[in-house]
Amino acid sequence: MPELSLHPDLRFFPDAASSVAGEYNWLFWALVFVCGAVTLGIACFVVYAAIRYRRRSDDELPPQIPGNMKLELLWTGIPLFLFMGMFAWGAVLFFDIERPPRNATQVYVVAKQWMWKIQYLNGEREIDALHVPVGEPIQLIMTSQDAIHSFFVPDFRIKQDVLPGRYTTIWFQAEKPGKYHLFCAEYCGTKHSGMIGWVYAMDRQDYQAWLSHGAAEGSLASTGEKLFHQFGCANCHHFDGHGPAPDLQGLYGRQVLLKDASPGIADETYIRQKLMDPKRTTVLGFENIMPTFDGQLSEEQVIDLIAYIKALGPGPGDRLPTSSGSTPQEYGTTPGIGEPGASGNAQTEPGIR
Ligand code: CUA
Repeated sequence: MPELSLHPDLRFFPDAASSVAGEYNWLFWALVFVCGAVTLGIACFVVYAAIRYRRRSDDELPPQIPGNMKLELLWTGIPLFLFMGMFAWGAVLFFDIERPPRNATQVYVVAKQWMWKIQYLNGEREIDALHVPVGEPIQLIMTSQDAIHSFFVPDFRIKQDVLPGRYTTIWFQAEKPGKYHLFCAEYCGTKHSGMIGWVYAMDRQDYQAWLSHGAAEGSLASTGEKLFHQFGCANCHHFDGHGPAPDLQGLYGRQVLLKDASPGIADETYIRQKLMDPKRTTVLGFENIMPTFDGQLSEEQVIDLIAYIKALGPGPGDRLPTSSGSTPQEYGTTPGIGEPGASGNAQTEPGIR
């Protein structure tokens, strides 16, 4: 790509620094080429036809043409083939970016006016900066504390809206060490343009050193465990399955049967909703006695609690008589956001319980 730079940060074309960037470039240039060629072809034909078939005298009448099957098949078939091809190509890339690899490391992001708060599973936190190892898939689980924001790293070709009240996710794998611009790509108020940061892609050793240098107060899950007791959750959610509220062991990613007979998946958004708006749904077989924690828990604390619930191993109440284990598939569920058991939780959070 030609370097037509006015300023180091203002490049003609963004760097291709993630695993999907190359494919996205191919798709982009293919679209530009096809659309450009079609536009140019049509424009040239219009000019040619206007000259070649112009009216030469006042009483000249064009001959009537009843139709041409061959021609019609051709101009229907070729565009159909081209557009379906583009659709299929785009769809393949879309599915790719929507399905995080099972071994992706999870990082939490809270967007707020006007900053990006990044939280790592080990408890490390930072603002407007995201450190990642090169060559390893990273999955971001994101929510907003206020307006709609959008997490955008042009060099990685990733962009995902970040919404209040729910979690959205995106994954990427940085392919070369470097410093990459992070933008907010959704107008979110006065200082929207200042809601920028950097993604630092580092070699594995550098990343490991960076991750352990900080004074993390404890992993997200251990902070979540403290909150779980501090807010009295343990009073009702017993781990023996005999409490007045459901046993939360193995809850994450599982299908939950609700009183109105609708099934729900216990993903991040579900757990957050149970904390902030518990009256909305009731789990089958339980009284809805859960108090709301809206206004008492910050988004960061909700994430700590989610990390804690994720880290809880499967409990005795989770094993159905017909199944030997408690993988989500055995419950007939579709894996949710983080694909339970898919995350790096197991490796990064040993012995949480
Ligand atoms: Cu946040 Cu724009």
